[in-house]
Amino acid sequence: MHFLDEVEKKSRLFIETYGCQMNFSDSEIVGSVMTDAGYELTTDLQAADVVFVNTCSIRDNAEQRVRKRLRELQSLKKKKPGLIIGLLGCMAERVKEQLFDQEQLLDLIAGPDAYRDLPRLMDAATEGQKAINLILSADETYADISPVRLDGKGVSAFISIMRGCENFCSYCVVPYTRGTERSRDPETVLSEARGLFEQGYREITLLGQNVNSYHLEMHGKPVDFPYLLAEVAGISPLLRLRFATSHPKDLSDKLIHTIAAHPNICRSVHLPVQSGSNFILWEMNRNYTREWYLDRIHAIRAAIPDCTITTDIITGFCGETEADHLDTLSLMREVHFDHAYMFRYSERPGTLAAQTKKDDVPGETKSRRLNEIIQLQNRLSLESNRNDMGNIFEVLVEGHSKRSREQLSGRTSQNKMVVFPGKGLKPGDYTRVKITSCTSATLLGEVV
Ligand code: 5AD
Ligand code: SF4
Repeated sequence: MHFLDEVEKKSRLFIETYGCQMNFSDSEIVGSVMTDAGYELTTDLQAADVVFVNTCSIRDNAEQRVRKRLRELQSLKKKKPGLIIGLLGCMAERVKEQLFDQEQLLDLIAGPDAYRDLPRLMDAATEGQKAINLILSADETYADISPVRLDGKGVSAFISIMRGCENFCSYCVVPYTRGTERSRDPETVLSEARGLFEQGYREITLLGQNVNSYHLEMHGKPVDFPYLLAEVAGISPLLRLRFATSHPKDLSDKLIHTIAAHPNICRSVHLPVQSGSNFILWEMNRNYTREWYLDRIHAIRAAIPDCTITTDIITGFCGETEADHLDTLSLMREVHFDHAYMFRYSERPGTLAAQTKKDDVPGETKSRRLNEIIQLQNRLSLESNRNDMGNIFEVLVEGHSKRSREQLSGRTSQNKMVVFPGKGLKPGDYTRVKITSCTSATLLGEVV
């Protein structure tokens, strides 16, 4: 009885995550720190005693969504006056004055390197004190923390292998919100990956803002990203490996050959190009040219013919002319991207572009160019999927399809989602599927 009383007294924490995969991975570290400190995780917002919102600053609309959400959460707090609302992640630095001091929407703020301090911050917040830690660290990698897996399916997991970014692309806020680049101890990456495989996970994505610049030492010898990737791939042929994100300037032949040599490293490279115009790439401080990018694509295709290539594109960056925009469209056709994330440029306070360039492409022009880019990509994605019809792929089963309990869904090594009827198969199984039809977003098939 006494024990039950203790259990029931635990404060319940609800974590809501916005933004990139890195943020989702960070929320798992937060989950681990907090459960170690005696909190219990809940997926029921109404039952929570503590709500953490892990935020993203990459574009203005991401920030606006969070601001709106924080105001909504106030109504919950009215019903439950003791509720603690904390803001984590990239927006932390930027909200202190308005949301914490002026509007008093928050009880706690913790930046991306302050998660070990959360239990102390919680104690302060509970006592009604200011609970803020925005310190960015030069060496925090949370290497020894074993994340709580929040994605319940148990098939696919993320492992952060580095933090921060020092590329200073002129449009990007990440180097300011997440601090300097640092790599995580490779032994801890390997042991986390082994642990996941033993628990039944079959797909691991190694994460960092620029994984190609990973470097550290193991047993006195230098370890670079291709080496680390090969080591993790060596855990088991049944373990699939993905990674994100690569910077084109650092994508080495060694990495390409490492992928080619390991069938369980997935045949899919995400290589954000941002623009097809050399002038814009220069203005963005990307440190490569269109020609360099195309050369990397040719190198990938030559070594790994069945590899899909996906990208990120920003349209309407400062000074972008119609000719620059046409360069982006022509590059897209030339590479024939299999998938793309496409964005309108959004000026971020404090970045090099905000300080030195004019956000001078009118809103309508940005929207029109973005539409043209999306239309073209939809066509390219559909063509890419049509090319798969009649072919057989090995699919890792993830679960039921969103639309129907009768259908399963899973991914090919090329990172395409496949939906198929599959009796007797369960999440984590591999199966061979013949593609019979498709949309621009999904392949449909049958088990062979
Ligand atoms: N405006 C629009 N898109 C941006 N990205 C990064 N910063 C901005 C910005 N200020 C995009 C880039 C990056 C992806 C994660 O987000 O395409 O690769
Ligand atoms: Fe931002 Fe560039 Fe770093 Fe990516 S590489 S996080 S776009 S600064």
